[in-house]
Amino acid sequence: MANDLRPLIAGNWKMNGLKANRGELMAMIAGLRTKSGDTDVLICPPSPLIPDFAAAAAGVIAIGGQDCHPAEKGAFTGDISAEMLVDAGASYVIIGHSERRQYHHENDDLIANKLQAAWRAGLHPILCLGETLSERESGQALDVIDRQLAGALEKKARNSEFSVAYEPIWAIGTGKTPTLPEIEEVHGHMRRRLGEFCDEAGAIRLLYGGSVNPQNAAGILGLGHVNGALVGGASLKAADFLLIVTAALSAAPR
Ligand code: PGA
Repeated sequence: MANDLRPLIAGNWKMNGLKANRGELMAMIAGLRTKSGDTDVLICPPSPLIPDFAAAAAGVIAIGGQDCHPAEKGAFTGDISAEMLVDAGASYVIIGHSERRQYHHENDDLIANKLQAAWRAGLHPILCLGETLSERESGQALDVIDRQLAGALEKKARNSEFSVAYEPIWAIGTGKTPTLPEIEEVHGHMRRRLGEFCDEAGAIRLLYGGSVNPQNAAGILGLGHVNGALVGGASLKAADFLLIVTAALSAAPR
């Protein structure tokens, strides 16, 4: 890790998990109690599980939502507000995940408003960005990052209370990842660009997401300007997730 930020290892369960999967959370809690170190650990389960998970994991694992609506309340059938996530026990929320951008047609303007909603409610947002395979292959990855960062952050408060996850779309759920130098390049670039929008860009944790697993975690988490990971599939199994947390602990500054 390039600086002394406390790493964040976040698990995104997506639309996976029933009450019956509570055992995985309990195994994570038990595993984390035996580890000492300076890492924040977060699980973002499906919304119906948030209240129970937040109560069970209090003080060990933070619980977050996977999305929120920009408004505080109103006639928006099926949506969940940032205030409702807080009320349920969440302290984080994922904003602008590529699956939301793709399947729910979320654009930068909506994502900017969702970030504001998270801050209004007192949640710590994790802003996701990343390029498609064709954008990577045509050399546009950094342009996409610039566009998405500007879309989410320009003309807004210079708040630094958030994290950013670089998640190349082609790496999500595919088992493929960028090379370590490619990840390092994007993270260094994001750090520089964030300085244009935020007063304390150096305090913003930059996560990598996309096929992080116990085998590749140490290499990725050891890179400059990588301050954690956003983990999908490998966060569903406590054993795998705990190995990724262990990799973060060994990469963390002492
Ligand atoms: P993955 O998902 O780890 O399963 O690739 C990451 C994400 O979408 O956040």
